[in-house]
Amino acid sequence: MCGIIGYTGIGNAVPKITKGLSVLEYRGYDSVGLAAKTDTGIKTVKCKGRIGALEEKLEASPIKESGTAIGHTRWATHGGPSDTNAHPHSVGKTVLVHNGIIENYRELKSELEATGVTFVSETDTEVAAAVLNGEYERVGDPISAIRTATSRMTGSYAFGILFSDKDGEVFAIRSGSPLILAKGADGYYLASDMTALLPFTNEYYCLVEGELARLTPNGATVYSADNTPSEPAWSVTSMTAESAQKGGYPHFMLKEIYEQPEAVVKSVSPRVKKGQPDFSADGIDAEFWKKVKNIQIVACGSAMHAGLVGIRLLEDIAKVPTVSCIASEYRYHPPIATDGTLVIVISQSGETADTLAALRYATDAGLPTLAIVNAVETTIAREADKRIYTYAGPEIAVATTKGYCTQVSVLYMIAAAISKAKGLIDDTEAAALVKGITEDAPKAISDMLENVEMLRGLSERLAKKEHVFFIGRGTDYAMSEEGALKLKEISYIHAEAYAAGELKHGTISLIEEDTPVIAISTEEALYDKTESNVREVRSRGAYVILLCREDAKNAEASADAVIRLPVNSAAATLFASLTAVQVLAYETATLRGCDIDRPRNLAKSVTVE
Ligand code: G6P
Repeated sequence: MCGIIGYTGIGNAVPKITKGLSVLEYRGYDSVGLAAKTDTGIKTVKCKGRIGALEEKLEASPIKESGTAIGHTRWATHGGPSDTNAHPHSVGKTVLVHNGIIENYRELKSELEATGVTFVSETDTEVAAAVLNGEYERVGDPISAIRTATSRMTGSYAFGILFSDKDGEVFAIRSGSPLILAKGADGYYLASDMTALLPFTNEYYCLVEGELARLTPNGATVYSADNTPSEPAWSVTSMTAESAQKGGYPHFMLKEIYEQPEAVVKSVSPRVKKGQPDFSADGIDAEFWKKVKNIQIVACGSAMHAGLVGIRLLEDIAKVPTVSCIASEYRYHPPIATDGTLVIVISQSGETADTLAALRYATDAGLPTLAIVNAVETTIAREADKRIYTYAGPEIAVATTKGYCTQVSVLYMIAAAISKAKGLIDDTEAAALVKGITEDAPKAISDMLENVEMLRGLSERLAKKEHVFFIGRGTDYAMSEEGALKLKEISYIHAEAYAAGELKHGTISLIEEDTPVIAISTEEALYDKTESNVREVRSRGAYVILLCREDAKNAEASADAVIRLPVNSAAATLFASLTAVQVLAYETATLRGCDIDRPRNLAKSVTVE
């Protein structure tokens, strides 16, 4: 999704902006641009396509040394990808880049057109630039112009702004979309995303809703909602530029799959004390868990799929009735809340607009909220009543792997903590669950990664197909949803997940000679039933890859290919199956020559509703 980078200082701004833009690429984008302040005014270069196209334009027409610039990667919403619709947008003295959506842009545009203003692009951003420029022309003061202009806008925005008569100054304001300021050795930075700042500095400040900022080469000032100025309270991030690089792997996605064992350990071990589940470091004690009578998990995409696995864990281990809701639907039909309802929002980025809107809806409804978030100090993490961070580190590939994996691992630990708090399990049983998730699961992931050659061989068959089905029962059905999503996201193969028993009620009509079916069967009690479903599809010509427990009988007789999963604990079996479907998706997409880390049309952090 859209990305913002800005700089002002004693360094050369343009290479810094292009560097920042190249880091932001992972968010997904279809056009790119920058605007730099020069002795002869603000020069803007922008185009449809990737950074390479922008660099060609800059080579053909170089911008001479500039100390102040803003840049943007655009993921099209209002108006298709084109040179004209790309940001920055300029109107009069005002040049800006924008993340988010100005929802009332049509009304604002009509008002401006009635006064003779004309527009060249189809974007809401150009309208925002015109509104701001009108105010700036009227009052002449950037701070009050930005305040008045944004007070007329509804929707969400993070703006990076230059005014042609304000040398060395970059302005920024946010509402609903994130913005981070940073302090470097040679100047001050602005970005929508921490990773874009890592090549330059580790000192940062996250702008709070409604805060406005002014950067100059000598300092940064933050203006609160009532315009009281202050110096940002800088923090230091432990993330490094290296953690956001490929480190020898051909793709970020593969690197992130291999990082999963460590990411799980980092995410769950702070929640263990003396071998028992313990969230006291997150400010959550046994009394809190005891009061939970039912749970609504709310999230998008893979995070929602983590919630589907969470249902099984929380109901089976902690006996707490749980639902997992698609965040964009939650507000229209929220599940009925009762005394003891806890809303858990899950988000890798902490900025997904639909999840944030659902969180705010739950907060307004007076429900207690808990966020499971990877990116620290993000809006969702800040606005929830309680937060549990997953410590997956920066996730760059658009298709989440270690983010999802750590979300499931934390849900596992929450299920153990609730079960223990409610007295449903004793210390020995709780310790066994903890061992499963802290030791067996990471080992199972590593062991499955030893089988990459075998998985690649199976992917050769998948890569030639346009349709693949995933089937499973219970937790395996939830995992099938994630397996199918991974495959379609990055390989563009149509993949569908079905509850294994449901296939015969319609979808089995799609099975023909050689149709691939990936059957997941990790639960011993359900094996025979899923195996029957495998036989049903196989007898209709399907090519079946069966992921089953290593002690499963007759698997080779039922399926065309078998992937055996460890059975030393339920967590080991579950995470091994996850790793297998991730690697199958990755290898299949590689064989199809897809742009794995940046799949078409997708964005890493979806900050529009
Ligand atoms: C996007 C990503 C998905 C992700 C979803 C939710 O659609 O492409 O991989 O699962 O957003 O993201 P979040 O950051 O809230 O977990």
